[in-house]
Amino acid sequence: MTSSPRPPVAEADPPSAAWELLLPAAGAPARARGRSLQAALRDAVRSGRLAPGTRLPSSRDLAGDLGVSRGLITEAYEQLAAEGYLRSTRGSGTWVGEAVRAAPRGARDLAPGRPTGARVDFVAGSPDLSLFPRAAWAAAQRDALSELPHPTLGYPDPRGLPQLRTALAGLLARRRGVVVDPERIIVCSGVTQAVTLLGFVLHARGQHAIGVEDPGSPQYEELFATAGPRAVRLPMDAHGLAMEALAASGVRTVVTTPSHHFPSGIAYTAGRRARLLDWARAVDGLVVEDDYDGDFRYDRAPVGALQGLDPEHVAYTGSVSKSLAPGLRLGWLVVPDGLTDELVARKRYMDLGNPALDQAALARFVARGDYDRHLRRCQRAYKERRDTLVAALEEHLPGTEVSGIAAGLHAIATLPGRYGPHAALLERFAASGVAVRPLSHYGAAPGEALSLVLGYAHLAPARIAEGVRLLAYAAQELDHARVQSTRR
Ligand SMILES: Cc1ncc(COP(=O)(O)O)c(C=O)c1O
Repeated sequence: MTSSPRPPVAEADPPSAAWELLLPAAGAPARARGRSLQAALRDAVRSGRLAPGTRLPSSRDLAGDLGVSRGLITEAYEQLAAEGYLRSTRGSGTWVGEAVRAAPRGARDLAPGRPTGARVDFVAGSPDLSLFPRAAWAAAQRDALSELPHPTLGYPDPRGLPQLRTALAGLLARRRGVVVDPERIIVCSGVTQAVTLLGFVLHARGQHAIGVEDPGSPQYEELFATAGPRAVRLPMDAHGLAMEALAASGVRTVVTTPSHHFPSGIAYTAGRRARLLDWARAVDGLVVEDDYDGDFRYDRAPVGALQGLDPEHVAYTGSVSKSLAPGLRLGWLVVPDGLTDELVARKRYMDLGNPALDQAALARFVARGDYDRHLRRCQRAYKERRDTLVAALEEHLPGTEVSGIAAGLHAIATLPGRYGPHAALLERFAASGVAVRPLSHYGAAPGEALSLVLGYAHLAPARIAEGVRLLAYAAQELDHARVQSTRR
């Protein structure tokens, strides 16, 4: 045992404390008893149940209480003293070391998007997870598990299981007009990984800067910072990415959301789509098309993907994050021929491919028509929610302008200018229990009137109406307070 000049700091605990914690281990089969006692004692110290400074009973007393040999207890004390969990001095006994830090009891959950405590949470980005088709997904998983041949549980093709790539090729061609050979699809864990892979590969090819839309999704800049290239923010106009700024920037790759720009909600016009492709051909460049919510359009059939117009100059990416659930972490990247090998190599080094069972389940889910069925159900629900939002804004906040196309999971609402300073308004909204972000949060220059990004798809119609009523009440209160103060 180690000796220490420091005396124990706590009074000796009654032997029963250690006795109770170690009792189950003392009942282990004789051969495993010594190790079990050591593990239980270590666990009690690490979890904090035996706090630093706690004095342990003498080996003779504890052995008697537990009904085990004294040698096992002496051995356990010695082992844990050697590991630093216990201290002892001749004459003073054995106690829990003061330097031992109790391990946290359980893992914390730092996931974004967990309930914020707001009465109504309009923060955009999530589909309605309560619509997740649990029964159909469970059936697809069960069948995948029982039917998969054993070798499929080995390391997968890093591009993805062939049956999933085949199913996705059919789905993307039919729903989004993507021109796709299954050999050029890389299954990945979402748009996030697809864009990261592209960042690494293009950086290795000497592209040190990549264009991103401004305003736009803040995540691209962070992803590229990890992968190497610098993100160059490029302004938008009413038709899409501003072409003069793009041409002047010198970048050869640009990430875009042409079907439904995030966050402004506009769709690129046909003219701007054509000019974007002309640019890509002229600079021998690449347009990355993030089709994050392209399935949902409420006023007409969705416009096909840009990729269909020029598959050699567009890398197309999407995922199930907006259609099924972001927690599945499943997405796809459809790439031009010349980039395929490098991207597949990068995907292999990154993670050796996505989980085979999840891929097999999604392949079945798509092939059986369950994916289409689910999208139809969501489409109906989300259209109703958007209509509810627009009607509630008209009723409670007259003069509010809803902009962007009727699509996706969010809308932009620009409030009438009379409601006063933006910061004060946003404070009032938060105080009244509504979580909401201004358009400027995503990089847009604040206009005279306040524009809000309102995610509606995850909210039941009654919650949407309640949320708008709360916004209206908060705005009117502020207006009223302002009028009163100017009269004084
Ligand atoms: C513009 C945009 N693209 C893509 C995604 C989804 O990324 P992933 O497919 O990795 O979940 C998001 C998520 O919020 C997004 O805002």
